[in-house]
Amino acid sequence: MSIERIGVVGAGQMGNGIAHVAALSGFGVVLSDVSRELVDKALAVIGKNMDRQVAKGAISADAKAEALARIAPAVGLADLASCQLVVEAVVEDLDVKTAIFRELDRSAAPETILASNTSSISITKLAASTTRADRFIGMHFMNPVPVMQLVEVIRGIASSDETFKAVEATATRMGKTPVEVNDFPGFVSNRVLMPMINEAIYAVYEGVGTPQAIDTVMKLGMNHPMGPLTLADFIGLDTCLAILRVLHQGLGDPKYRPCPLLVKMVDAGWFGRKSGRGFYDYAGARV
Ligand code: CAA
Repeated sequence: MSIERIGVVGAGQMGNGIAHVAALSGFGVVLSDVSRELVDKALAVIGKNMDRQVAKGAISADAKAEALARIAPAVGLADLASCQLVVEAVVEDLDVKTAIFRELDRSAAPETILASNTSSISITKLAASTTRADRFIGMHFMNPVPVMQLVEVIRGIASSDETFKAVEATATRMGKTPVEVNDFPGFVSNRVLMPMINEAIYAVYEGVGTPQAIDTVMKLGMNHPMGPLTLADFIGLDTCLAILRVLHQGLGDPKYRPCPLLVKMVDAGWFGRKSGRGFYDYAGARV
């Protein structure tokens, strides 16, 4: 099946990045959220992020204008019926995602592929809430989507080869490198990344080093572009905690136990960059 029009549910950080890259790659895009205000905010962010690319000479001003014109704003899920692929990128909450997929399953054309950008929730479980588990798959983009090369393509237990191939080809056409993985808690990306972040938080908790010291060791010693605590703040500490809980519950191994300091910070509403405070203080846009 040829994919020409992509629906994106959720116009937050990940959703607007997916819409940005899809539109620049020539796909028609329907970008949906629960209010027109949220979608308009996302369109403004996309415009600004494309401006950076124009300023760097990576794309032309015409390409930016054409891409923006390819994004149709939508409120609710009804307008996604014309899409051959719908990528859900809402909050990491099983109940919220399940409700969206149930509705999409009813309203989308039978051949439409449904994909989730979840960072750790079981694709098999999400697929089971629909009547099209064979046309259901994980399409996990990395943040910031316009910059990061990877798309982790996660096969649920029932995802068909045809679905996998269509999504793999779409990711490639978006200029990304798709990597096939199977559906286990955290997939590959967060199975490997989150224990490192959690360990860095334990190192703060136990007084092994300051956040700055730990981040500097990993940046200069391991050539990571961001230290693990800066990265945790960037991803969102609430998201990191949610993923660690999925790993801990799903794999049952105490090595995935979220650090009590992470739990405490999330309880305090210190979610990282987006809330203005995490391991670093962003009130003055420091770091
Ligand atoms: N849109 C478009 N371009 C963007 C952008 C955006 N949102 N954000 C950054 N850029 C571009 C910049 O314009 C710049 O372009 P050039 O190279 O052409 O100059 C480039 O990206 C680098 O940006 P900056 O110079 O502003 O900053 P930097 O060099 O410090 O890089 C970074 C920023 C790309 C975020 C880098 O620090 C990095 O790679 N960090 C690690 C990010 C990472 O690990 N992401 C994965 C998180 S895990 C995840 O997403 C999945 C999950 O499930 C939790």
